[in-house]
Amino acid sequence: MDFDGSQKVIGHGAQADVVEYYGYAYKIYKETYPSEWIAFEKDQQKAVNQAGISPIRYYDTDDDHIIKMDLIRGVMLETKMKAGFEGGFEVIAEAFRRIHNADISNVNMPRLIDTINYIMTEDECKTAGPIIERLSEKYSSCICHLDMHFQNIMFPDDGGDFIIIDWMNTRIAPPVIDYARTYVVIEEFVKELLPYYQAAIAEDMKKLGIEDRDLQDAISVERIIRQHERG
Ligand SMILES: Nc1ncnc2c1ncn2[C@@H]1O[C@H](COP(=O)(O)OP(=O)(O)OP(=O)(O)O)[C@@H](O)[C@H]1O
Ligand SMILES: [Mg+2]
Repeated sequence: MDFDGSQKVIGHGAQADVVEYYGYAYKIYKETYPSEWIAFEKDQQKAVNQAGISPIRYYDTDDDHIIKMDLIRGVMLETKMKAGFEGGFEVIAEAFRRIHNADISNVNMPRLIDTINYIMTEDECKTAGPIIERLSEKYSSCICHLDMHFQNIMFPDDGGDFIIIDWMNTRIAPPVIDYARTYVVIEEFVKELLPYYQAAIAEDMKKLGIEDRDLQDAISVERIIRQHERG
């Protein structure tokens, strides 16, 4: 597809740029990014639309490396926090609640345990696989975002409810792994804020019966995954 020059860059990621163009957002992937993964991202979005946890629709374009999306006119949670908003961790905790409580009976989404060989080496799977298996048996599974952080939550300018984005990593998994993923992201970028994160999720973790040693095990898995992503 051709842009006429009026597009405006509104977001950057490792693999894609996001532009605003005639009232829609377009995610433009690098040519080297596999188109099957983009197709997978579209399926993921359909699944979270179906589950009622994202109102943003994705549309095909004539270019398999460009996704057209409903545009969110708003700011990232990160931007809001940098401007002085103090409720960021409570928003993260609420976002988890919203996702983890979603009805998954009609949702078509892979389980984490069935897809680890796509996101880890064989050796990494040997370490992480048994832990994920153990946690999947111990706790009931739900939708886990698996990349929940301050850049993946947006606040619309019209004052509407926050919107969670970037569902590429999302899988059916025990919620402890979702809590662990965000722990590892915060540890990497803003370690000094970890106690605020832990305080915000403590009550929900308790309600779910999540034991601390299981969180620690899940954190060890997510450290492996982050390490792999960073290459
Ligand atoms: N529908 C949208 N409307 C407005 N802005 C968006 C929209 N989708 C994404 N953005 C902006 O673009 C940024 C990057 O988008 P996104 O999080 O989907 O990609 P990413 O982090 O590169 O993801 P990936 O992990 O798939 O590479 C977001 O943080 C947000 O600021
Ligand atoms: Mg993102």
